[in-house]
Amino acid sequence: MSGVRSVTSNQDSIHKDLEKTVRKYARTQYMRPIALHTQEAFEQAREKICSWAGQSDIATIPVVLDSGCGTGESTVHLARRFPDCAVLGIDKSEIRIGKSGDPSHAGPEGIPANAFWIRAELLDFWRLVLDNRWDVRYHAVFYPNPWPKQSECTRRFHMHPIFPAMMQLAPVTELRTNWEIYAQEFCSAANVLREESGTVPELAGLCRLQAALSAYAPDNAETAFERKYAAAGQPLWRVIVRR
Ligand SMILES: C[S@@+](CC[C@H](N)C(=O)[O-])C[C@H]1O[C@@H](n2cnc3c(N)ncnc32)[C@H](O)[C@@H]1O
Repeated sequence: MSGVRSVTSNQDSIHKDLEKTVRKYARTQYMRPIALHTQEAFEQAREKICSWAGQSDIATIPVVLDSGCGTGESTVHLARRFPDCAVLGIDKSEIRIGKSGDPSHAGPEGIPANAFWIRAELLDFWRLVLDNRWDVRYHAVFYPNPWPKQSECTRRFHMHPIFPAMMQLAPVTELRTNWEIYAQEFCSAANVLREESGTVPELAGLCRLQAALSAYAPDNAETAFERKYAAAGQPLWRVIVRR
């Protein structure tokens, strides 16, 4: 487990096109059609959460999203931290999400009843959550794929057209990463989006966006990747964005 490599990149600072890219996507609407399988997964997630809450209207149920949850360990931690919320782990990897809910992730207390998992594509799922007015209280994005090559930068969430929607999902978004430049870019992108919110009416809700970056040194790993990074002695970074 100690062999995990730190991120290597042909970038040694924030991407030169970050600001331009965030401004461009703040002014355009991301229109890619929603895939049928994610629409179906979204319905399944809605049913699970409504059944747990004993309610029929999802918009009245407080929810926490654990986006890119991998094998879902962080979902268990978040479910304990937010016992009054439905905590939903989402990942597109069939293999990783297939390991979610494993009792070995939960210890003697067992898997919390408010923890759920679904296999889905985040770029579609997030837009469905927004369009259907889910009451998301907290959004965890732990160790997203960094896409460290400059040429792949638009695959990073903050340089992708999804970023304005992502920032509208929850009052608090927590990003964790083992690549400091990714954390710096995420912070900068949130600040640029706040500036754009003054001129783009659809983004008016982001006019107080505040992002804070800090080093992150957890006593206990909460995700599979966090455990690997700890074993390899890698420094970790955290960005908290408040809306
Ligand atoms: C580096 S892993 C981190 C997993 C977990 N958060 C952890 O810390 O152990 C990134 C995860 O994000 C998932 N992922 C990346 N992009 C995604 C997308 N667009 N939709 C759904 N899942 C995605 C991958 O399948 C992968 O499991």
